[in-house]
Amino acid sequence: MGRKSSKAKEKKQKRQEERAAMDAVCAKVEAANKLGDPLQAFPVFKKYDRNGINVSIECKKVSGLDPATLDWAYELTKTNMQTLYEQSEWGWKDREKRDEMTDDRAWYLVAREESSVPVAFIHFRFDVECGDEVLYCYEAQLESKVRRKGLGKFLIQILQLMANSTQMKKVMLTVFKHNHGAYQFFREALQFEIDESSPSMTGCCGDECTYEILSRRTKYGEGQHSHGGSHCGGCCH
Ligand SMILES: CC(C)(COP(=O)(O)OP(=O)(O)OC[C@H]1O[C@@H](n2cnc3c(N)ncnc32)[C@H](O)[C@@H]1OP(=O)(O)O)[C@@H](O)C(=O)NCCC(=O)NCCS
Repeated sequence: MGRKSSKAKEKKQKRQEERAAMDAVCAKVEAANKLGDPLQAFPVFKKYDRNGINVSIECKKVSGLDPATLDWAYELTKTNMQTLYEQSEWGWKDREKRDEMTDDRAWYLVAREESSVPVAFIHFRFDVECGDEVLYCYEAQLESKVRRKGLGKFLIQILQLMANSTQMKKVMLTVFKHNHGAYQFFREALQFEIDESSPSMTGCCGDECTYEILSRRTKYGEGQHSHGGSHCGGCCH
């Protein structure tokens, strides 16, 4: 009897600790989502003037983007990605991609030429993945004329900076294995690792899966393993 009740107490305490830890994770994500401009702290990253490109970079929530920029971002994504999606188990779905890109939680980095014409963007979110607070990069899309000039690397560096300054544990993203250029970009040039939640690591669909989940830890995620378990895919809303 005595043993049972102390076990029950231990269980209850564990549950309370887990809940408190999850509340702390959600509080960090909420605080990040309340920022006006996460790039404000890094003014030198608001410009990229190298290798024949001269662009200014802004960081906004989707609600702050004008419809023309959102339309451009959607069309660029479709141009760059439709075939790759069709070669995967997901297929390409116009409506789904539009909904994803206009979700209230979406944040954007947009690079514009002097004329204010956009040439590159990143869609990212502050979210909870497998019990961890993360910055998830949903989309990294450059017009072909500005590729291989270091801009993509610069934009991902910005994500890493913002993830650090908001105390996220890592920057995450999903990449198709058959998107060879992007795969090399993230894995080799930017040294992203295959995340422990990636299908090839969990063994859930092994080699048949056409994508990998990649991640790079911030200083807040160093030496940690994700909480996983029942929290995997969990969120704060
Ligand atoms: C993938 C992408 C974001 C990379 O941005 P980028 O500005 O072209 O890349 P960078 O110039 O910063 O490249 C840095 C390094 O990454 C590697 N790299 C980038 N693109 C590569 C490619 N297509 N093939 C092989 N390596 C590549 C190289 O090592 C490169 O350095 P180098 O040019 O000195 O050799 C961009 O090419 C793009 O928008 N592609 C189309 C859309 C897409 O596939 N997005 C990714 C979805 S997950």
